Amino acid sequence: MKKVIVLFLIACISLFQLSLLSSCSKKSEDIVNTPGADCSNPAIQKGPKFSAVESIINSKCISCHNGNQSPNLTTACNIVNEWYGINYRCVEVKTMPQSGPLPTTEQSAITAWVDAGHKYTD
Ligand code: HEC
Repeated sequence: MKKVIVLFLIACISLFQLSLLSSCSKKSEDIVNTPGADCSNPAIQKGPKFSAVESIINSKCISCHNGNQSPNLTTACNIVNEWYGINYRCVEVKTMPQSGPLPTTEQSAITAWVDAGHKYTD
């Protein structure tokens, strides 16, 4: 019987340590400082330059890039992560969207976001 109690106590202590560890790794400033994590944190507002790009993507790209065609551009985090390809295909070589280059105002909106640092909060 004593052995069972000792084992039970050990189990409790290790569970307690685990919960301490996970609460440490979830401190809010860690989430804010992890690159890319702000895009999935509802407490953090998207920036105006990112919002402009997101609405271009929503109206001109996700008809195809909806998960069936790579890259998947259906979430804010995916757009942030795909900034390079978006800029390359829409502004540099202008091969996206497939129907022809974006209007220059929309290309400039992408450039403004990329130059600002291509973050969710820009
Ligand atoms: C009519 C469907 C369609 C639309 C709309 C479209 N794409 Fe694409 N996209 C494709 C297809 C098909 C490919 C793969 C062939 C290729 O690379 O050209 C592709 C490829 C890409 C790639 C390269 C993927 C890779 O892995 O190299 C990027 C980046 C991209 N698209 C971004 C966009 C953006 C940004 C928009 C909106 C401005 C957009 N696309 C609109 C169909 C589309």
